[in-house]
Amino acid sequence: MAAADPPTMRAAVVTRYGPPEAVQVRQVPKPVPAAGELLIRVHAATVNRTDCGELNPRVFGRLVFGLRRPRRTTFGFDVAGVVEAVGAGVTAFRPGDRVFGMCPYRRNGAQADYVVVPETAPLALIPAGLGFAQAVVCEGAYYANSGLQQFDVGPAHSILVYGASGAIGSAAVQLAKARGAHVTAVVATRHLDLARSLGADRVIDYTADEFRRLDARFDFVFEAVGKTSYFRWRRLLKPGGRFMATDIGPWGHYLPLLLASALTKTHRVTVPLPRRGSAPAFVAFMRARLAASQFHAPIDRTYPLEAIADAYRYVMSGQKAGIVVIDVAGSDG
Ligand SMILES: NC(=O)c1ccc[n+]([C@@H]2O[C@H](COP(=O)([O-])OP(=O)(O)OC[C@H]3O[C@@H](n4cnc5c(N)ncnc54)[C@H](OP(=O)(O)O)[C@@H]3O)[C@@H](O)[C@H]2O)c1
Repeated sequence: MAAADPPTMRAAVVTRYGPPEAVQVRQVPKPVPAAGELLIRVHAATVNRTDCGELNPRVFGRLVFGLRRPRRTTFGFDVAGVVEAVGAGVTAFRPGDRVFGMCPYRRNGAQADYVVVPETAPLALIPAGLGFAQAVVCEGAYYANSGLQQFDVGPAHSILVYGASGAIGSAAVQLAKARGAHVTAVVATRHLDLARSLGADRVIDYTADEFRRLDARFDFVFEAVGKTSYFRWRRLLKPGGRFMATDIGPWGHYLPLLLASALTKTHRVTVPLPRRGSAPAFVAFMRARLAASQFHAPIDRTYPLEAIADAYRYVMSGQKAGIVVIDVAGSDG
């Protein structure tokens, strides 16, 4: 009797660096969990700016991800799905558990039917009653939360979130409100209602005169899209106020400021880089927020896995609001 072919699955395979077309859905071997690992049947993943950065990295990124082509061939950090099998010795999760969270660094691969992660991965049980698409919310919130932690935002503070319609910005507004801060959200005209729905105390249209004439003073400015210069914001900061940008800017224009700020230990200009090892506690924190209906990521678009290249194209346009979900399993239960 001929041996059965090994099981396969669909995966979004990244064939080379570059455009969305470099991401192609192919049949690949279905992974098998080793000792201490979980096999997750992926129901929902996202395409986010971290994935896009990995698809089209700058020079430094290539040193990390692979010089000529990406070492990892399937991306996807955000994951929500069902544990299908566990390797020897796993105690944290059982088959049938509905889980969400993030694949660990260099173990990303959720843009596929299945992904294997260590049981120590930042995962938590999906709160009862929540669909997979509503649980696949971590990437933007992780950066937002890290920024707010660095600022140590609290009830006595006022914060301006610029670009509050993005994944990081929309999370920053909600998480800063949860910390009791007074939040001003700045967005395009088309996102004004979205920003209000996030609970911002004040919402400003960046195309309007109100924005150009803004003369309030803030403890913190969180530039969540990396589009504008620190010098644009300096006059809006209170004495001792701090500025954070999610990106080093189109020409790396934040780099000298970040360097100076670190060298002088003022930390006046900073980036929301999460602390190493902080992801498990963050996912547990998000589970509590989701269970209490105190956080939601606006879902801009949903694509089936087969159309993932279109999702990359849209996210790379820089125009998404909130998150873009990949409905991998074609169901949300
Ligand atoms: N280093 C990393 O690993 C890493 C990871 C994640 C994110 N990031 C960076 O963080 C930034 C934000 O990420 P994200 O995922 O939150 O972004 P995103 O969701 O793609 O943000 C897009 C949003 O920004 C708004 N926007 C675009 N241009 C704007 C402008 N000039 N002023 C105000 N808003 C503008 C867009 O709406 P309108 O066009 O309608 O304004 C859109 O709603 C990106 O620059 C990304 O590269 C870096």
